[in-house]
Amino acid sequence: MSTIPEFQKAVLFHEPGGLDKLKYEEIPVPKDLADEEVLIANKYVGVNLFDSLLRSMEQLPSWYPATYPIIPGFEGSGIVVKVGKNVTKLKNGDKVVYAGSSTFTQYTKVNANSVLKLSNDAKDEKLAKYTALVSGGLTSLCLTNEAYELKKEDYVLLYGVGGGVGLVLTQLASKKGAHVIAVASSDEKLAAAKHYGAEFLINHKKEDILKRVKEITDNKGVQVVYDSVGKEVSDISFESLAVKGTWVIFGFASGPTPPVNPLLLFQKNAKLVSCTLYNTLTSPSAWEHYYDEFSHVVEKDGLEVPIEIFPIEEYSTAIAKLEGKKVVGKLLLEISS
Ligand SMILES: NC(=O)c1ccc[n+]([C@@H]2O[C@H](COP(=O)([O-])OP(=O)(O)OC[C@H]3O[C@@H](n4cnc5c(N)ncnc54)[C@H](OP(=O)(O)O)[C@@H]3O)[C@@H](O)[C@H]2O)c1
Repeated sequence: MSTIPEFQKAVLFHEPGGLDKLKYEEIPVPKDLADEEVLIANKYVGVNLFDSLLRSMEQLPSWYPATYPIIPGFEGSGIVVKVGKNVTKLKNGDKVVYAGSSTFTQYTKVNANSVLKLSNDAKDEKLAKYTALVSGGLTSLCLTNEAYELKKEDYVLLYGVGGGVGLVLTQLASKKGAHVIAVASSDEKLAAAKHYGAEFLINHKKEDILKRVKEITDNKGVQVVYDSVGKEVSDISFESLAVKGTWVIFGFASGPTPPVNPLLLFQKNAKLVSCTLYNTLTSPSAWEHYYDEFSHVVEKDGLEVPIEIFPIEEYSTAIAKLEGKKVVGKLLLEISS
């Protein structure tokens, strides 16, 4: 195995703003690992919309644990090159996929609990597939198991179904036997959602979402809305709910969800809940449980997503494509060694 260099290349931004704020710079490779951490030489990292939302924020959210410069990226895959002294489940040379932060680098240090070991003969295609699915898969499992436990025959409203999370959520929801009402901005994205099990398709550029939801559900509304879009759809999310329906907020692609008057919920005995991956996966046993489920849905249920891969040097082209809503599926960056 090659030695770990002192310096590496990373995509990062020093201040908020547009795409022009992203730089590709040399930074030190982390030297010190906490006892529970491992250092991973990345092969692929995933591009998320939240990377862009974070870059556009004048003020970082109080719960976000980093300061500038910020390295985007919330997942990756590669080879373990160093392990902390309390790590027993991983060793140097293991091929892995992981959910973490600041992954747009050649080397990322991460808590071993958030790492899933793959077989050591795993080919690059498998690493890419698991990288593309890990964030959307874990998020979708948390949403459908905990935030609102999705049941057979439930009507479920999903936005942004052409995206990395949206297509995975569509598959998990339809596999549970729910009636998936899929919303997207293009027929191409909706065709992908249909391929992965969506029953009803709404192109929000051409159709009134609420009117269609009412038609589809015979005016009863849906049992759950998993809302990743926020501001632009908040009224639609609430109005789409059936009596005793649940509105799950898990993202704000179009801007923060406006304040909600609790008395509004009285109208329908509605529930308003939120869900983040990192407030769900708070213990080693939670990670283990969800990685078991994740491996099961990938290997046994055939979870997949269309993947497009750019070399990390072309990060700007890749991220511009995502921000232009042009991506169907998941974008990855490939790291040259
Ligand atoms: N809570 C959690 O733990 C968690 C974890 C992962 C992701 N998320 C959230 O899940 C959502 C999806 O993430 P993703 O990485 O899968 O994103 P993605 O692949 O880029 O898909 C996001 C979709 O959001 C829609 N959208 C609406 N307004 C947009 C805007 N201003 N710019 C770009 N897209 C916009 C687009 O759908 P249309 O083109 O069809 O309108 C797009 O396909 C994000 O809100 C993200 O923050 C939450």
